[in-house]
Amino acid sequence: MSFIKLKNIIPWGRSMDEYVKMFNLTPEELGLTILDCAGGPASFNAEMTAQGYKVISCDPIYQFTADEIDNRIQDTYQIVIDGVKAIQEYYVWQNIQSPEEMAEIRMAAMRKFLADLPLGINENRYLTDELPVLPFGTHQFDLALCSHFLFTYSDQLSEEFHLASVLEMCRVAKEVRIFPLLKISGEPSPHLKPVMSELQQRHYSVEIKQVPYEFQKNSNQILRINSM
Ligand SMILES: C[S@@+](CC[C@H](N)C(=O)[O-])C[C@H]1O[C@@H](n2cnc3c(N)ncnc32)[C@H](O)[C@@H]1O
Repeated sequence: MSFIKLKNIIPWGRSMDEYVKMFNLTPEELGLTILDCAGGPASFNAEMTAQGYKVISCDPIYQFTADEIDNRIQDTYQIVIDGVKAIQEYYVWQNIQSPEEMAEIRMAAMRKFLADLPLGINENRYLTDELPVLPFGTHQFDLALCSHFLFTYSDQLSEEFHLASVLEMCRVAKEVRIFPLLKISGEPSPHLKPVMSELQQRHYSVEIKQVPYEFQKNSNQILRINSM
């Protein structure tokens, strides 16, 4: 287990509806065994479980209690909203129409996550594990997802970390989908092309696909990787 400090983290989580659009998940795909890497305080696991689907999420923040994470959300919530308001022109205000609506959607998602966390920990649905090493068997999952972690934080996380993380996701799942492919600044990630070519050399099938979700401007593509 890593010794991350909660005071260094800004918890921010998306809803199941956003996950379905970000990863272009079909109704059939919801029935697959799914791993959510860097799941954080998203409500994907909580909402999927409530509907009878199977998701395991892993993230180092699951070492903290729901109360501890909730306190950190309260402390940082306004900072995130003000940050988005300061650069509103970098977002598409269509499905989500204003920073206030974004705040409501994200808070509703995080509340669902917090309410589900204690039960989910007991049921081993939230695991304190982190990339680039996962405690799962080879192809234990049909699908591994990663939202707003890989490529997003390309300024902080090296190309080596990205490649090792994607290869580990490919080891534990038959298919991997990563969203978005832009950095938090909206610029392309410099790691995308080298990671794609390394995967191709290792005989993975790799493609960039458009998805029906665009909140950060021009950020509407996933990287999809399959074992051949
Ligand atoms: C911006 S959040 C994204 C949360 C969620 N996937 C979503 O899109 O709503 C990024 C998450 O990455 C997690 N994280 C940081 N280092 C990690 C690692 N090495 N492996 C897995 N997750 C990590 C953080 O704790 C945080 O919850």
